[in-house]
Amino acid sequence: MSTKPLKQIHLAAHFPGVNNTTVWSDPAAGSHIEFDSFVRFAQTAERAKFDFLFLAEGLRLREQGGKIYDLDVVGRPDTFTVLAALAAVTEHLGLTGTINSTFNEPYEVARQFASLDHLSEGRAAWNVVTSWDAFTGENFRRGGFLPREDRYTRAREFLATATELFDSWDGTEVTADPVSGTFLRDARAGAFAHQGRHFDIEGRFNVPRSPQGRPVVFQAGDSDEGREFAAASADAIFGRYATLEEGREFYADVKGRLPRYGRRPEELLILPAATFALADTDAQARELAHEVRRSQVSGATAIKYLEHVWNRDLSGYDPDGPLPDVDPDPGENTIALGRASVRQFRDPLATARQWRELAEAKNLSIRELVIATTAKQTFVGSPATVAESINSLVQADAADGFILVPHITPDGLEGFADTVVPLLQERGVFRSEYTGTTLRDHLGLDVPAVRPAGERQATAS
Ligand SMILES: Cc1cc2nc3c(=O)[nH]c(=O)nc-3n(C[C@H](O)[C@H](O)[C@H](O)COP(=O)(O)O)c2cc1C
Repeated sequence: MSTKPLKQIHLAAHFPGVNNTTVWSDPAAGSHIEFDSFVRFAQTAERAKFDFLFLAEGLRLREQGGKIYDLDVVGRPDTFTVLAALAAVTEHLGLTGTINSTFNEPYEVARQFASLDHLSEGRAAWNVVTSWDAFTGENFRRGGFLPREDRYTRAREFLATATELFDSWDGTEVTADPVSGTFLRDARAGAFAHQGRHFDIEGRFNVPRSPQGRPVVFQAGDSDEGREFAAASADAIFGRYATLEEGREFYADVKGRLPRYGRRPEELLILPAATFALADTDAQARELAHEVRRSQVSGATAIKYLEHVWNRDLSGYDPDGPLPDVDPDPGENTIALGRASVRQFRDPLATARQWRELAEAKNLSIRELVIATTAKQTFVGSPATVAESINSLVQADAADGFILVPHITPDGLEGFADTVVPLLQERGVFRSEYTGTTLRDHLGLDVPAVRPAGERQATAS
């Protein structure tokens, strides 16, 4: 019988930022803005030898019923500022930032990531997201914005253009020879010209080739087009499927697309978001998981969540009472703005019908229904149970690792670092020491070859 070699697990830490995974009201919770929170979080992840720290992004404060939705934790500092500051207080940890391809410009973003890669000595990664909504677009120069069907045409051209810029230096241009008085060997350093549907730019890129050649590229987005974009161009996917069945299906689907682009399975890592409830015993962990869900879904949160589907003001309803007997208001959702989850309910009438049936069958109140239908903790159990679950999902090709989202910020990773990580190390499936210095080293990804000057023009346009 041939045995498959054990896969090494990749682990990362997601600083939750704006969302209600975070239980901000827990006495153990700290600030989401102060630098000390980011430092403590990053240093725990690095002590645990994690691959990287991950920041998501939201470019406008969410609103509900015309007011700021303050049950999400309000406020989110700028990604590059946070990651650059963290580069100075960490040594090995990768630094992954989510940056949108709809609302930005390739020159600016490429310059920021190349700079972060230099400042961190090769630890930068870019999660390319394509959120396009007009509400967010109002914060930007051109307002309103991009038709939904164009989100990936722009993303593809954006990434291809940024790649041209990263590749516009081959790394040998700076000679800085005081004897001959020559600083640059090649007077064409950084020259680029890109002409396409979304971008028509020409000039000089002003950051020399960075330690990783290019930052590691992540993709998050689950449509067929999103998966194709990832298969063509990403090094890793920030995914949402962290169960055996869904994970295997997603993994096989996305890895199956790679040969079309001349790529091998190990060139694209699948890293779903995962939450956890850890306690000394499985029974205690189940109890904790239940308590965490009750804290995450307060009565007010339950009503707000229901409003996403109903697209109506439901503030008069009792969260401990039955579901509203009115139907959702069809048409454009105007009650909740800036939330991706609103877009997931493509058929609100069908969703409402299913929820009513479920609530009636199980006698659930609004709050209980929301708890039952929204995300549960991915890993629940004692350290041994959680280590086993993580390892078995990875070995079964449901994922290559996980991006962990603790419900307490910034210290919610401590228990995991102290108890689960050593068990994974004992099994020989997770590193005990960093063996490389760059994020590409941690993820087992090659540094991209330098493209000869003649081939640097973007292929996607
Ligand atoms: C797991 C996951 C995480 C995401 N995180 C973000 C984020 O932090 N910021 C953001 O603007 N969009 C985020 N998105 C939204 C995607 O970039 C994308 O706009 C959206 O999913 C629509 O693309 P799709 O139709 O391919 O899914 C995320 C999507 C997924 C699936």
